[in-house]
Amino acid sequence: MTHAAITGWGKCLPPAVLTNDDLSTILDTSDEWIVSRTGISERRISHASLEELAYVASSRALAAAGLKGSDLELIVFGTCSHEDQVPNMASGIQARLGAQPAAAFDINTACTSFLYGLSAATALIRTGVVRNALVIGAELISPFMDWADRDVAVLFGDGAAAVVLEATTREEGVLAEKLGCFGESRDILRVAGMGGRYANHGVLYGVVRWQFEGQEIFKRAVAGMSEACDQSLKRVSLGPQDVDLVVPHQANLRIIEAVARRAQVPMERVFVNIRRYGNMSAATAPIALCEAVEEGRVRPGALLLLPGFGGGLTYSAHVVRWGERTQPLGQSAAALPPNERSALDLIRDCLRRKMTPSDPQAADPFAGL
Ligand code: UT7
Repeated sequence: MTHAAITGWGKCLPPAVLTNDDLSTILDTSDEWIVSRTGISERRISHASLEELAYVASSRALAAAGLKGSDLELIVFGTCSHEDQVPNMASGIQARLGAQPAAAFDINTACTSFLYGLSAATALIRTGVVRNALVIGAELISPFMDWADRDVAVLFGDGAAAVVLEATTREEGVLAEKLGCFGESRDILRVAGMGGRYANHGVLYGVVRWQFEGQEIFKRAVAGMSEACDQSLKRVSLGPQDVDLVVPHQANLRIIEAVARRAQVPMERVFVNIRRYGNMSAATAPIALCEAVEEGRVRPGALLLLPGFGGGLTYSAHVVRWGERTQPLGQSAAALPPNERSALDLIRDCLRRKMTPSDPQAADPFAGL
């Protein structure tokens, strides 16, 4: 049987750090409230584009796998903050990596986009359609954030990461997964303004209102992830005692603790990095996975459990067998352009752009884009 081993991993975090104290200068909030309710202390705000973040992360993942762009047969780009609807994000990464003619598609299940993408790519490798794949999770949320809404502005950040999958006969990569969705609850997490249906109402792109019922999302997140953990492990006749490390989606430390409790895995065997980055939607799971490997928390042959949830409300859990190698084969020189600006300055730019629409009298408002 063919499996899809994870042979490369790489992340890209923009350098500008937005602390809870920074946020309390523009919102009625406090470090104490944010840390105690969410576990988040700081998050990153990007000065670079979504494609740039994803390109750097992808280059690092390819180098770690010892592959070149031209070796790739498939690129799956998980995101909900696309630069364009057409063309997709994956084709831009294909062009920049020199990966022609690799297949390239985007996937949007909000925060679970990388995880759903991992399933799609694994299935295409298992069935022999492709022999390898690059799976990306990347988000540039800051331009779509409602920076006046303390209910959501404190929770999210920007980032990107990617993994390389390669066909193997060894029993590695995704061994089993459970994917699901509470579609009847889709309205409890909506970023109104981020899509075509608002154009008819004269809403400028980037001007958003988050419809966000935190406690309702919280309950379904715990229920969905717990059920998915249970079912995915059962599919391979394994139990919580077999799991070496849980690498969960990081939206709220209290959600992670509740899922770990229900899954009967002690917190010592749960990887948590939410303090430094908050929720980066699709980028969260692959960044956590990269950091777990970099910090030596993933031993050769380790069994990992990756629970996730996101808008939709989608949920998932993947049982993953890591390979023997926990060190990258190579390093990439790819890096973001330098940045001198503070995170608060970058946010002020986002706000200015929303309040100053492009000049309708200008000869070509798209010139230079
Ligand atoms: O990938 C999907 C992403 N979504 C999520 O992960 C959401 C899951 N939900 C959560 O993480 C939590 O529900 C939140 C962190 C969003 C909220 O925590 P909570 O413990 O459910 O707080 P709450 O909504 O019950 O609010 C408690 C109080 C309220 O004040 P009153 O009504 O008790 O006077 C809020 O107005 O805290 C207030 N509050 C804040 N105070 C200071 C809400 N946001 C803030 C804030 N700073 N940023």
